[in-house]
Amino acid sequence: MYGKATAITSPNIALIKYWGNRDERLMLPNNSSISMTLGDELTTKTKVIFDSKQDKDQFYINGKLQDLSDKETMERFAVINKIRSIAGTNAKVLISSENSFPTSAGLASSASGIAAMVLASTKALDLKLDSRELSIIAKVGSGSACRSLFGGFVKWERGQKADGTDSYARQIAGHEHWPELVDIVAVVSDSKKKVSSRAGMRQTVKSSLLYKARPEWAENMCVKLEDAILKKDFGTLAEITMKDSSNLHAVMLDTYPSLMYLNDTSKEIMYKIAELNESEGKPVAAYTFDAGANANIITRKGDADKVMEMLSQVASIKEIRKTGIGKGPRFIEES
Ligand code: PMV
Repeated sequence: MYGKATAITSPNIALIKYWGNRDERLMLPNNSSISMTLGDELTTKTKVIFDSKQDKDQFYINGKLQDLSDKETMERFAVINKIRSIAGTNAKVLISSENSFPTSAGLASSASGIAAMVLASTKALDLKLDSRELSIIAKVGSGSACRSLFGGFVKWERGQKADGTDSYARQIAGHEHWPELVDIVAVVSDSKKKVSSRAGMRQTVKSSLLYKARPEWAENMCVKLEDAILKKDFGTLAEITMKDSSNLHAVMLDTYPSLMYLNDTSKEIMYKIAELNESEGKPVAAYTFDAGANANIITRKGDADKVMEMLSQVASIKEIRKTGIGKGPRFIEES
């Protein structure tokens, strides 16, 4: 058999983060999370070719052949085995994935990469799966990947069931709902993170005392944030986003051994945003940090110049990328 497809996806930035599982095998999270999918300025393009004439799997990221016996790569590659078993094929696969942004530095490259891999693979094998089934497969590779299967604002439901059938991603609102929103990515470090998200969150769940309060709080914040998104209430969105980022990094620090993903530049950005909001008398920008030092700053078009001006004062920022809310995945034809 032979089948190929190419998908383009974008990373998503969680405003309420996923960190920790109630069931790691099925990737069932301890709390729901909400993200916005980023625009076309940051994309992952993944080409997948299944070919039963090939004798081995090959996986390239930005032209570099990946070691499929590496633990982290194996975890991510599990989605391919799952898709092969659904399709009833053992054809080998060639995957080539390219990011237009730094890989593994807290810019959610795994989310867009795995989402693109799932979409291209299921299309190449002509599988007709709905978005709920796709999101259940994607999160096996990386939890946050299920949120990159959609554009706009997306919620990954925690769910209640032990079999995980009610834990999947769904769109809250499309990209056209709030086009004034802007995401400014400040690249502070382009080096690979020392502890992967999966290993880090496992350690937090096991050892952090403060983490015990997080799931219920985050669950409640998801309800408030969804409402704020639907009402386009920027002040509430900004406050919840910054509180959740700080709560996440507090439980990371409270993990044993401690996880410290932020660096001095990240902290300087936090101070600068707080100063800007103070001087404006209301939140006009919100920072959020994943498992990395890079900042995502959410603001509105009318305030973006002020944020850019403020960031220009932080000398150690390596690169700034401005993007908006993305439409979500698409397929392209490639020879
Ligand atoms: O999906 P993973 O395993 O890469 O973990 C994502 C963890 C965070 O980026 C910190 C939070 C999130 O919800 O995206």
